[in-house]
Amino acid sequence: MTDEVEPLELARGVYWVGVIDWNLRDFHGYVTPKGTTYNAYLIVDDTITLVDTVKAEFSAEMLKRISQIVDPAKIDHVIVNHVEMDHSGSLPAIMTAAPDATIYCSKNGKDGLHLHYKADGCEDWAIEVVKTGSELSLGSKTLMFIEATMLHWPDSMHTYIKEDKILLSSDAFGQHIATSKPFDDEVGDVMAEAAEYYANILMPFGRVILKYIDTVKELGIDINMIAPGHGIIWRQDPAKIIEAYGRWARGETNKKVLIIYDTMWGSTHIMANSILEGIKAAGVEVKLLNIRKNDLSGIITEVLEAPVIIVGSPTLNNGIFPSVSELLTYLKGLHPKGKQAVAFGSYGWGGGAVKAVEKELEMAGFELIEPGLQIRYRPDEEGIAACLQLGDRIAGFVQ
Ligand code: FEO
Repeated sequence: MTDEVEPLELARGVYWVGVIDWNLRDFHGYVTPKGTTYNAYLIVDDTITLVDTVKAEFSAEMLKRISQIVDPAKIDHVIVNHVEMDHSGSLPAIMTAAPDATIYCSKNGKDGLHLHYKADGCEDWAIEVVKTGSELSLGSKTLMFIEATMLHWPDSMHTYIKEDKILLSSDAFGQHIATSKPFDDEVGDVMAEAAEYYANILMPFGRVILKYIDTVKELGIDINMIAPGHGIIWRQDPAKIIEAYGRWARGETNKKVLIIYDTMWGSTHIMANSILEGIKAAGVEVKLLNIRKNDLSGIITEVLEAPVIIVGSPTLNNGIFPSVSELLTYLKGLHPKGKQAVAFGSYGWGGGAVKAVEKELEMAGFELIEPGLQIRYRPDEEGIAACLQLGDRIAGFVQ
């Protein structure tokens, strides 16, 4: 059980008191095969401060972990970096244990808390609104707050421990990994998980991320450690994850094409493979993913790294195949920036999927670089040649 895990001291008087959710496999639709952690931090100084909490179902475990360090009733300050319930869910339990504690959060955070925790007596909680640059002295340590609006909710903010140079970054810079080894230098390379997390949670907010990175530079703060709300803590090389966020936010990609498709009776599959051969023959890296054999979270991570995606759908009932529709709906929400796309697919009589896919891709922010290719029934020699030629032309966009 996770409650056997000891609190962990990150720096003198700064403890991890979160929980490890080993068996989480679905985080509101995001597939999490490696589980996750909900990271909360306790700062013991002249006053006692808790930064963030954990999912409600783990309240008792977090309180037990805090109790190994201090009596939870002695908590003076509770920092709510983010209202989403995986981080605020145990706030009612904390405010019951420490009813005199003061909560610090952003203006949007206060609104969110009032809307979500009314039934838990939120109106009786003392809540102070803080802004970027606001400071809270804890005794020998000082907290500084940095608003991170829309990174990824309107209420999001980060907390910086000035003397220890630790940034408590809420969802930003996180990864969904459950591990008993909490630091980056202990677990090997976690950039693939960090990229998947960015792609599925933060991709729509590239501009916000770049602005946030500028704000951190303007504040002139040194960061020795980034302790996010999920996954491992970056202590060996915190700059590495900030640089990666800059790269992803600017839309920097590898020179590769991604083909994503589904198929009913194999014809769209043949088209997908023929387009792939055309791209490959032109010397460009290409990857092919069948939607029903891959989870959407992984597909979106591949989209993050590809400048061009090719989406294939057979026509079903004059429209898009359901699995392809699901992908396109997800893509519309994530709205990747600066990417190009092409649609293709097989049909039996009236057709319709390719045009509909193109419309959805445009709504998701993609630039269509070639007219969609549709082929009736199974591609013959002429159809395969058309696919190869399409692949060759697409390769030209990434060379
Ligand atoms: Fe980990 Fe936006 O919550």
